[in-house]
Amino acid sequence: MYTTKNDLPVQARTKLIELVNARLADAVDLQTQVKQAHWNVKGPDFISLHQLFDEINEDVEEYVDLIAERAVQLGGVALGTARIAARASQLKEYPSDIATGRDHVDALSNALSSFGKAARQAIDATDELRDKDTADIFTEISRGVDKWLWFVEAHLQADR
Ligand SMILES: [Fe+2]
Repeated sequence: MYTTKNDLPVQARTKLIELVNARLADAVDLQTQVKQAHWNVKGPDFISLHQLFDEINEDVEEYVDLIAERAVQLGGVALGTARIAARASQLKEYPSDIATGRDHVDALSNALSSFGKAARQAIDATDELRDKDTADIFTEISRGVDKWLWFVEAHLQADR
């Protein structure tokens, strides 16, 4: 912990930094999974999915930055390397043996859904620690993830 004049109590900041870094690991993992889908998707919807997945990647990169910088603002160290993320992420491993648009849509919707659930839980957990700003960051992220989950899942919803 670094000393800071941030007025949130140190006990709260300690818990917040731990929580923020846990979600940072998920976000770094999610970003690599989105890129994995961007690179490897094949089939008749290739170009639209390839481009959609890159747009999602750009937003997730912003989530990573927002989360990492919040850990530092609270007096902590941002733990955001690929190795740390691989150890700490709660997301399931992205399948490396899939190719079709449908399979990537399914796999990526699972990743977005898991990450979205954790982001939503982080809103409440940080709010309970009286940190409305971190709650606001996770609210923004949760709203974005819900939008991207819709964009991805819409490919499968025509048949219901
Ligand atoms: Fe690319």
